Parts: sequence; structure tokens; C-alpha cells
Amino acid sequence: MKKVYIETYGCQMNVNDTEVVFSILGKAGYERTEDIAEADIIFANTCSIRDNAEQRIWGRIEQFAIRKRERADVVVGILGCMAERLKDKLLETGKVDIVAGPDAYRSLPRLLEAVLPGHPQIDVLLSREETYGDISPVRIDRGGVSAFISIMRGCNNVCSYCVVPYTRGAERSRDPRTIVREACDCFREGYREVTLLGQNVDSYRWKDGDGGEVTFAQLLEMVARISPLLRVRFSTSNPQDFSDDVILTMSRYDNICRHIHFPVQSGSDRILEKMRRRYTREWYLERVRMIRSVIPDCGLTTDVIAGFCSETEDDHRDTLSLFEEVGFDSAFMFYYSERPGTIAARNYPDDVDIQTKTRRLNEIIALQNRKSLESYRRDIGRSFTVLVEGPSKKNPEELCGRASNNKMCVFPDSVHKAGDYVDVEVVGCTSATLLCRLAE
Ligand code: SAH
Ligand code: SF4
Ligand code: F3S
Repeated sequence: MKKVYIETYGCQMNVNDTEVVFSILGKAGYERTEDIAEADIIFANTCSIRDNAEQRIWGRIEQFAIRKRERADVVVGILGCMAERLKDKLLETGKVDIVAGPDAYRSLPRLLEAVLPGHPQIDVLLSREETYGDISPVRIDRGGVSAFISIMRGCNNVCSYCVVPYTRGAERSRDPRTIVREACDCFREGYREVTLLGQNVDSYRWKDGDGGEVTFAQLLEMVARISPLLRVRFSTSNPQDFSDDVILTMSRYDNICRHIHFPVQSGSDRILEKMRRRYTREWYLERVRMIRSVIPDCGLTTDVIAGFCSETEDDHRDTLSLFEEVGFDSAFMFYYSERPGTIAARNYPDDVDIQTKTRRLNEIIALQNRKSLESYRRDIGRSFTVLVEGPSKKNPEELCGRASNNKMCVFPDSVHKAGDYVDVEVVGCTSATLLCRLAE
């Protein structure tokens, strides 16, 4: 049996895609290895979201080439978003044997059969239907507690900075029956948490033949009803499409976790419009108020981009003041990276210099660190039920796991194990961890 090694970059959806690829290749007679040294086939499942994500992969391709010099029959393949974006440009390097885009994974066995030295193989066709709905992913997480389930693919938004619609194609929703079946399988295998994934989960919509429809709120409910012991999370919510139904469904099921990842991108209306986000600052703040009025203790996290095209100090201050006002628990913070072919790249100069981008990003990070600490401190004295993920990375005598609001908790405990629910009391914190003890 030939051994396949896959390195995964990018978002949670890419992680889940790697699991789909292992499933497809397993059926075709390939064996998974976690040791690159014994691999006959080396794949990188890649990300194009920012330039530095791609630069990392170029570095890896050079290192794979060194390995090929030692063993000429090793096959090197690039999968995922960078494969889709760069297509034959990757083959032109002479260092890559297979290029397969996100909708081409069913072709991998065929591509692997056909590949020969000097005869690279490529499939970067995007599909309007492919959801890999019938495929049971081979889980690559180590814990066996928390699993990713993709509920849709692609994206129909055209945020002007974003490469995803080009690398992942048009949005399509997956048959809810296959989603529920997969979540049931996870639960039966011992998983206690599933995260439903999509670029914009709120636009999930399944039309059955008889004119019936399943919305995201309904899907969430279907998954939540599998078992009260199965936690349900989801990502990513789009402020424009985030519906009251979703928050009401959350409020009705304790096992739907009290956390919403709610990317804002900017606090300036002028920049939001230029980004083609379809909401305003006020709309966003209203959604946050609505969420907090229904679920007061709901965890809120976000993504933000500093230094988008034409961003002024005033625009930047609007972002800072929005962060001040909302008080997110944590945030993924980036400076703008121009992506070739996007609406922004074609229409707006990338005119905020790198020093300014970096300075603004650092200001957002400093503010958010303070806000994170405030948010974590507010939880001191509170009690949470934690789903144990395993030993804490820093101290093997302690366990770690998340509270419903997505905050990481660590606590001394020699009794419980991964997959258990444990009640804890918060006794201290850092800006990213709640320090806890077992509840009395
Ligand atoms: N679908 C999600 C985002 C997926 S990409 C959403 O709509 O929110 C994850 C994050 O990467 C984005 O939220 C954005 O903050 C960031 N990002 C996307 N394109 C970027 C770019 N060109 N430069 C910098 N950050 C970017
Ligand atoms: Fe990109 Fe916007 Fe789609 Fe998110 S919603 S993946 S940012 S185009
Ligand atoms: Fe990256 Fe593609 Fe995900 S660009 S963030 S791996 S959808």
C-alpha cells in the first residue's frame, strides 16, 4: 500500500477537506501516514487567503523538492485554494506532480494512477454541485472529542478583498440528511462536539424536491436534537445574514454553544461599503445588541482587516471605537493583503503603506488584548460546564477544555478524561485562558 502524508493549511474547512481526501484515498487503497519520511505521496492542502499563507507553501514546495532529489518516485501534490488560484503555474515549477482544486478530490485516485515523472496531472474544475455529502471523512484530530462538519461549500458573496469565491467557487448547501447522519456517526464514535462549517452559514438553504426548505436555523435544531450530550458549534456567521431564528434556536437548546464568531472586518461604514460587506456599523452593533438581549452571556469573537485600500486615520479610529464598544472575547486580526484578481485588486490601489498597516494593526491588537483580559476577568467567580479535550499543553497534571462560550479552561484534575463534561469554577485568568478548579 502506498502511503500518503498531508499537510493542512488555512481554515477549518480545509482541515475537513483533508479528512475527505483521506477517505477518498483510503477507499482507493492508499494508507495514511503522519511521518513525511515514509510517505510515497506528499500533499499540501493549501490556503490563499493572504500572501504570507502562499509564501509559506512556496517554502514547503522547495523542501519537498529536496526530498524528491533523494527519492525520485515521491509524488508531490498541491491541493486546495492555492491549487485553484495558480493552476498550471504550480506545474511550471517542475517541482509539483499533481494539482487538484477543492472540487476535484474525487479525481485524486485517477490523477495518482496517471502521474509519471515528467507527466504531471491537474484537475482544477470547480463544480456547482459537489459537496462530498456522501463521504465519511477520516478524522485527523487527535482528541476524538470535537469534529468539523462542512455543511456547505463555496461562497456567493464577493467581499472585494477576498479570494475565496475564486478558489472555492459558487455556494452550495449540502443535503441535511447527510449532515445529520455524519453528526450521529461522530456521536456514536465518541465525539461530543461538532462544528458546522461554511463561509456564510446563515445562507445555508436546502431545497427538497417537494418545495420544502431547510434553513440554517432548522439544520442547527436537527443537529442539536441528536443528543443533549452533543455540543453544537458553527462558523462563520455573516452579520448581514445572521437571523433572529438562529439566536432563538440557540436559546432553546443548551447544547448549542453560546458563542458566535462574527467577523466585522472594519468599523467604518465607508470602508465596509468598499469591502462590499453588506452591512453598516450600526447594523452590526444592532445585531450584537440583539444577540446579547437574547443570550446575555454569549461569547463573541471577530475578524478584522487593518489598512484596507484608502483607509484613513478616521476610518481606523472607527474600527478602534467599535472594538471598544463591543468588547469581543478575542479576535483574529490581519492587515490587508492584496489578492490578485479580486475586485479590490482590480479597482483600488493598495495605498496604505506597510508601516501604517502594521501600526494600525498593532493598535487594534493592543486594544483587543485589553478587552480580552477584561472579558476573561469578568468570568472569575463564575461556574461553567467544560467539555474536556485532554491534558493541558503546558501542564500534564491539568486538563483543558472549552466552556460553552468558547473560552479555554484549564484545571487540575486527575479523574476525568477527554470527552467528559466537568463543572468548574473560574479562579483566575490570562487574556486567553480561564484558570479553574473543579466545582464543589
Ligand atoms: N467567510 C468568512 C471569512 C473567511 S476568510 C467571513 O465572511 O467572515 C477569514 C478572514 O480572513 C476574514 O474574515 C478576513 O478578516 C481575513 N481576510 C480575508 N481576505 C483577506 C485579505 N485579502 N487580507 C487580509 N485579511 C483577509
Ligand atoms: Fe470571503 Fe466574504 Fe465569502 Fe467570507 S463572505 S469567504 S470574506 S467573500
Ligand atoms: Fe484559505 Fe481557502 Fe480557507 S483561501 S481560509 S483555505 S477557504
